[in-house]
Amino acid sequence: MTGPTDYDAIAARYAAGIDQRPYNALYERPATVALLPEVAGRDVLDAGCGSGWYADWLARRGARVVAVDRSASMVALAGERLGARCRVIQGDVSDLRDVFPDQAFDVILSSLVLHYLDDLAQTFHEWARILRPGGTLVFSTHHPVREGTQLDPGYLRRELIEENWGWLGETMRYFRRPLRDLTEPLAAAGFVIERIGEPDPSEAMRASDPKGFERLSRLPGFIFFRARKLTA
Ligand SMILES: C[S@@+](CC[C@H](N)C(=O)[O-])C[C@H]1O[C@@H](n2cnc3c(N)ncnc32)[C@H](O)[C@@H]1O
Repeated sequence: MTGPTDYDAIAARYAAGIDQRPYNALYERPATVALLPEVAGRDVLDAGCGSGWYADWLARRGARVVAVDRSASMVALAGERLGARCRVIQGDVSDLRDVFPDQAFDVILSSLVLHYLDDLAQTFHEWARILRPGGTLVFSTHHPVREGTQLDPGYLRRELIEENWGWLGETMRYFRRPLRDLTEPLAAAGFVIERIGEPDPSEAMRASDPKGFERLSRLPGFIFFRARKLTA
């Protein structure tokens, strides 16, 4: 098995489905948005923006948004959606030293990106660098027990999972990691965790995707964090 999925080849298929997909529209996004602070007039980074749904949402609420993604195809798709309303750049969210000075942002939002990254210690340190003191980090990622993901060779081991995603027609690869692999590097980078979310699926989800609702009522798909960068 090679590394985690590169989104470049599947960007168009992803963009065609992601805005309406119940798992995202009715489960992931309401939970992520609920953790965000007021964004109007604030500098916000959409880290791993994909085709730009969140950057668009943030810009509509008055945030000054910069969106970054590693995939050139995703950057192009997000650029088409966002036009002149925000800056969209190609880059690695784990190393933005050539792009942003220290303390450039009030808020970092990263939706469903971290499970594609190997070394979260580096990523959280980089995000602490570009956040202002007291700034907020909100992210979602695959839950460590995501829908009963096979936990062999063991919950505590980080492993590269291969999974067929029917809606994309693609075998995806991502890292499954235990909870401590999120919490420990966050603390080491100078963040204090304010909230951890494991939401129930909503009634809207039940109506739109009864099978998904039933699965998510037993086992979480994603986990949600809000963390604050310490001031000293
Ligand atoms: C599941 S998509 C999520 C996109 C978007 N946040 C959303 O919720 O629709 C994951 C995105 O992370 C991007 N990505 C993965 N690793 C990255 C990295 N190291 N730096 C920047 N973007 C990355 C991929 O290119 C892809 O667009």
